[in-house]
Amino acid sequence: MTSQTRKVTIKSGKTASHFVVHKVDDWQNVAKALVRLVKPGTIVALSGPLGAGKTTLVQYLAKTLDAPKRAISPTFALMRIYKLETRISKLVSRNRKTEIRDSAKRKFDIRRLVHVDAYRIEDVKDLVVLDLDEELMEPGTVVLIEWPENIRSWLSKKHPIEVRISF
Ligand SMILES: Nc1ncnc2c1ncn2[C@@H]1O[C@H](COP(=O)(O)OP(=O)(O)OP(=O)(O)O)[C@@H](O)[C@H]1O
Ligand SMILES: [Mg+2]
Repeated sequence: MTSQTRKVTIKSGKTASHFVVHKVDDWQNVAKALVRLVKPGTIVALSGPLGAGKTTLVQYLAKTLDAPKRAISPTFALMRIYKLETRISKLVSRNRKTEIRDSAKRKFDIRRLVHVDAYRIEDVKDLVVLDLDEELMEPGTVVLIEWPENIRSWLSKKHPIEVRISF
């Protein structure tokens, strides 16, 4: 597969960081930076054209958090949920006697990644099916949304971390 350079900006509050993704594996660096920014309740809006790498970034993020490869899809392809429970128990046994560093502690709190592909969502009413508010209330949830422009009204007061990809 040929490499095609992507430019990525992560905007979290007033801080922006920039990345250049030359090849697929470089998404790992972006995922590592993103992991440091997310905590339970965080929403990540991933924007960029078709084939930009939004799904790829979510997969690298799941991998960075040691999620099992298989995600469950409660609403067909619109939503996938990565449960991180196994990872947590691993961390618990590893850290039982040692002090857990702050960053690890924060990661430790994340229990599930809810990955939403809003590409086919045309109306906010479709969101009722997904019930993202309910998903967010589950402890330890991070929500990642592709095509956030399709659910702008839901996102408006949520202050998501914004990931913008161009190529
Ligand atoms: N830097 C890169 N160089 C080459 N290929 C890449 C690069 N980054 C991602 N890809 C590839 O591009 C393809 C599309 O990526 P991906 O499915 O993540 O895009 P997407 O933004 O989710 O697209 P969509 O909007 O259709 O959901 C994948 O096969 C992925 O491996
Ligand atoms: Mg995608």
